[in-house]
Amino acid sequence: MEKVRIQSFFENLLKSVEAEPESFLGFSQAEAPTLGDFLADLDPQMSLDWNGVSFQGLPALRGHVIAQAGLEGVCDPDDVLITAGAAEANYLALRQLLEPGDEIIVERPGWPQADVLATSNGAVMGEWWRDEASGWSLSLDALEELVTPRTRMIFLTNPNNPTGQLLDADMLGQIAAIAARVGAWVLIDEVYAGLEWDHPRMPAIAGLYERGISTGSVSKAYGLQGLRLGWMICRDAGLIRDALVLREYSSQISNHLGEAIAEIALRPQRRADMLARIRADSHANLTLLGGFIEAHPKLSWCPPQGGLIGLVRLHGKILTGDVLAARALQPEYKTFLISGSSYGLAQHIRLGVGGGRAANLQAGLERLADLLDSFD
Ligand SMILES: Cc1ncc(COP(=O)(O)O)c(C=O)c1O
Repeated sequence: MEKVRIQSFFENLLKSVEAEPESFLGFSQAEAPTLGDFLADLDPQMSLDWNGVSFQGLPALRGHVIAQAGLEGVCDPDDVLITAGAAEANYLALRQLLEPGDEIIVERPGWPQADVLATSNGAVMGEWWRDEASGWSLSLDALEELVTPRTRMIFLTNPNNPTGQLLDADMLGQIAAIAARVGAWVLIDEVYAGLEWDHPRMPAIAGLYERGISTGSVSKAYGLQGLRLGWMICRDAGLIRDALVLREYSSQISNHLGEAIAEIALRPQRRADMLARIRADSHANLTLLGGFIEAHPKLSWCPPQGGLIGLVRLHGKILTGDVLAARALQPEYKTFLISGSSYGLAQHIRLGVGGGRAANLQAGLERLADLLDSFD
């Protein structure tokens, strides 16, 4: 196993924090609630010791996780492991399932976590490219060509980070069928689920395929990323066990207070109310962003079908997303956006409406307009 090395996405994120931006056009998480929103439902006598709680996480919370994924009657709480965010769930699965020489297929563009960890595990990467001209779609023929008897995992995001495109039930079923022919796992990071715009939530892969792994968290649709509270759902008891064993040698157990708050947030009525509010705010902001992009001659995009972010192509004399993102952080603009180069696409930027009111979306768009003019 090799040392884990920094990837440009995180490198740029670290740099941008130092620049102290005032507006944020790249965030992917909904507006965060405050602790006060939960106080009335929290028990002040709750022990902050952990003993006596299941290693897999609070049973009631695991029940809510199954319900939010639409998996009632298909999966049960034993199929869930509560983790430190979707990121830890992905980490545990990637680390336990991949061995040197195994092949993993990742989507391009896609969330870079699998690349970084699979590479350090000595796995071989196959790149499944989305086609921008057809709305960032994925071709099953291309997948058939990439899959070999050594393929151990297909790793995807649904909705996709960064394009916001969805994989529907039919597509997911076909991906699972291709994977099943070689016994490969299909891990779908469903961290943006719940934020679909003109579609219902897409089916969770854990319900469609025995070797399907659904990962998710309360970070994005509920804005609770600071809780570090996520999950892995899989009907294969061996994988849940292997993940739990690896976790014992890192963070050991789940975050007890985070679990208590997430359990409240995911109670059915509360979840429905929160999502309705977040969806209304986010949809209005996405409409604003979409209008800005469509009216601007130097920008174009395929609007996201889900989630709060999309990938925007740059036209005209702007050289690259890197140049634009770096200039955006300068004192005249103090605006955060993400260069497409972090996703292997130099002529794109990732724009998003996450972060709530603190993101200063309107001011950010005005600054971006000035910044784009500065390239004339
Ligand atoms: C696709 C994807 N997966 C996982 C994460 C991390 O989520 P969490 O806060 O649940 O660990 C992110 C964060 O941006 C993401 O975009």
